[in-house]
Amino acid sequence: MNLSQTILGVTFRNPTVLASGIWGITASSWQEVARNGAGGVTTKSLWLKEHKGHKNPCIISTEHWTLNAVGVPDAGVEKAKEEIGDYNKEKPVPLIANIIADSVENYGKTAAGIVELKPDFLEVNISCPNVEDEFGRPFACSAADAAAVTKAVKKVSGKVPVFIKLSPNVENIGAIALACAKAGADGFTAINTVGPGMAIDLRSRMPILSNKVGGLSGPGIKPIAVKCIADIYRATEGKLPIIGTGGVHTGEDALELMLAGATLIGIGTAIGTRGEDVFKKVTEEMSAWCKEEGIKNIAELVGGMHKTMDNE
Ligand SMILES: Cc1cc2nc3c(=O)[nH]c(=O)nc-3n(C[C@H](O)[C@H](O)[C@H](O)COP(=O)(O)O)c2cc1C
Repeated sequence: MNLSQTILGVTFRNPTVLASGIWGITASSWQEVARNGAGGVTTKSLWLKEHKGHKNPCIISTEHWTLNAVGVPDAGVEKAKEEIGDYNKEKPVPLIANIIADSVENYGKTAAGIVELKPDFLEVNISCPNVEDEFGRPFACSAADAAAVTKAVKKVSGKVPVFIKLSPNVENIGAIALACAKAGADGFTAINTVGPGMAIDLRSRMPILSNKVGGLSGPGIKPIAVKCIADIYRATEGKLPIIGTGGVHTGEDALELMLAGATLIGIGTAIGTRGEDVFKKVTEEMSAWCKEEGIKNIAELVGGMHKTMDNE
């Protein structure tokens, strides 16, 4: 059973990838994720300069969903360079460097700083729903803004493929993806968190999160992820790779996202519920299902729903 995926010249030993922002920002934490079976790791969103996040409480979880307004804290590009440099010395699996900025110009500057470290892919977070108070509507909410960021990053990215991380909180994610593709995007990550949502403490009658609202992740968002991935795949005629992310907890969840059009599978919130070795578990579950179905190569499944529908 071949679970590996080669995307734009980069080989992942299996399709599971650590989603951005979930597990530290140190070389040793990424290495730990690789030891736990991940096929690749994504850094948390990296800013040009230090950026402070939101005060606690900034995350709450139930078995159905997690609501977070961590606020994307980060020490800035110089610190990231140290950690990525250390990781590169002994790199067990490919590294996807995720970047964020407050303006088109700063996306370009941040990308230029990170590209020097030769990450395998750049992932451009234009879709965080919990920094709207600080920076306004995410760039992912407008095709023109999303395309402008893509263009600015592509200008400095050289040979490093650029994945644009899209938001589910839009009317037509396919149109946004198409605009980014025309601006030179090499692939997409979908989805970032949903909402924002809110939770209220009954006794204090106040929102639980200090930021009042936060982005939803976890099992409850999987159907939204599936629909968004399918829409992006259709809009771009299945020509660009998609890192499908959102609510994946089991191998069957991962396979469902692949049938919608995902090539790799981001896993975030499930680390909290299934444990650090969720990557190993999900990979084994995918493998067992494929064996039962007589599938020899996981790559065959990508976009399978569209192929079946088109043949009907
Ligand atoms: C606590 C937390 C922090 C996150 N931080 C980031 C981040 O820094 N950058 C980013 O692009 N996405 C971030 N995300 C979004 C995840 O990468 C992912 O897109 C989302 O949680 C859906 O996947 P999941 O349901 O597997 O968690 C964060 C999510 C959570 C729960």
